[in-house]
Amino acid sequence: MRRAFRWDVTSVPPLAVCAGVPHEAVPGPRFVAARARRGAEIAANAGHAVLDDVSRPFDSIRDYERLFPVLGAPTAIIQSHTRDDVFAWQRIAGTNPMMIRRVDGALPEDFPVTDAHLAAIAGTGATLSRAAAEHRLYLLDYEILDGIPHGAQRYLPAPYALFHLADTHTGHHALRPVAIQIERRAHPRENPIYTPGSAPADWAVAKLMVQVADMNVHEMALHLWGCHFAMEPFAVGRARTLAPEHPIGILLDNHFDALIANNDLGRRTLIAEGGPVDRYLGGALEGSLEILGRARATWTFSGASFPRELASRGVADPDTSIPNYPFRDDGLRVWSAIEAYVRGYVAVYYDGDANVVADPELAAFATEVAAEDGGRIAGLEVPRTREELVAMLATLVFVNGPLHNAINATQGDFMTFVPNMPAAVWRNPMPAPRGSGERDLLALLPGKDASLGQISTLSFLASKPLARLGYYRQPYRDPAAESVAARFRASLAAIDKQIDRANETRLLRYDDLTPRVIPNSIDM
Ligand SMILES: [Fe+2]
Repeated sequence: MRRAFRWDVTSVPPLAVCAGVPHEAVPGPRFVAARARRGAEIAANAGHAVLDDVSRPFDSIRDYERLFPVLGAPTAIIQSHTRDDVFAWQRIAGTNPMMIRRVDGALPEDFPVTDAHLAAIAGTGATLSRAAAEHRLYLLDYEILDGIPHGAQRYLPAPYALFHLADTHTGHHALRPVAIQIERRAHPRENPIYTPGSAPADWAVAKLMVQVADMNVHEMALHLWGCHFAMEPFAVGRARTLAPEHPIGILLDNHFDALIANNDLGRRTLIAEGGPVDRYLGGALEGSLEILGRARATWTFSGASFPRELASRGVADPDTSIPNYPFRDDGLRVWSAIEAYVRGYVAVYYDGDANVVADPELAAFATEVAAEDGGRIAGLEVPRTREELVAMLATLVFVNGPLHNAINATQGDFMTFVPNMPAAVWRNPMPAPRGSGERDLLALLPGKDASLGQISTLSFLASKPLARLGYYRQPYRDPAAESVAARFRASLAAIDKQIDRANETRLLRYDDLTPRVIPNSIDM
């Protein structure tokens, strides 16, 4: 298959992607039919929404609720999106749950939050230094957006947002926003700090700026780079270096299903000139690809290991960070099951570390995926022990299945109701935006065309998956491998029940890391 799968470094430079879609990577008719069906539903939705009120401009936030005549409206977020606790909740169980980090020392110098700002939320006497020492301060820092060129008529902020973790007897919605600054250079008049005590209309604008920033980072850094394009080189490398019957290749095939074809479609539509990224996101095509490039420059494969990613933000341990963090809590359950599964699978084929070292195809795979003239993946080493092989496989299975689902499926829940998470702000609100009510918010939000475009694009991306984690198109032919897979499915079923129970007491349900809805691969 070496000849059919070739590296292409010119389509989205400097990324290495697959040249075209080789015959072997073309998805089956079921995939094509399901996508066509979804596409038809979305086209019908857009058609009805336009026909219903073709000439009227939006004159209320509620008008955005009418853009779902065929598709179901995301009612949970429509009803709750203005609440501060739901704003905080989206940091730990939203569509971008990978931005929040623990503040361990001082806050950034250009975000001059004071003890008084904190005390207004956390109670008299609260200080930033004590709150940080008690692991109660959390920060969103959108530095990656600083200086990104904006699309025509659009504005893309690079804000800070500070959160405080309060004790509550139930503990499940204890994170609260304290302060937001829309841009990075502190200035009391032109770039003030907003708080929940600001005029309600001003606070609403400040939160909206965070939501816009969050969506742009989500799509370009976490979704397109961290899932789609960071994983594609592994699928290409698999075809080029591992024999079809190589056991590691057989396992990976299950988790790379449709990835190459899906990414190819994304390159030809999503990130094409005049495509949705260009038309709707804050940075248009040029700025958005720069966000992707910045994310890639600091991303490593070793750092993408789920526990390590959590640790890098200081949130891995519930005792020293956020006690209830659905993305982390559900994710770690699934991660453990995946780790046990690939460990069992590796043990079937490798008696000891020496067998791993003695596998030239495995070495060729990791070498080529990492190479400058190969997949250009940073932080990937040739596995020399069984545990290093387990670590590599666990990350690949986790990113292609659960992580992508947590990032992808949530787009429908949080991003299709445009006032919750617009892809761009459509007027430059700086300096010092002051809201005076709904009219000001409406002036910032995307209009009807851009909103329908956002809804149609994200509803398509968040289509229901066609497969289910651990349930493969074909059982393993090797009974030893199949019995490891059967144990994996049993452990996933137990996790389904644990998460169902956890959801009973959560602020909003968090379903996207429940194994029964997680697909095996990035098939959307
Ligand atoms: Fe996706």
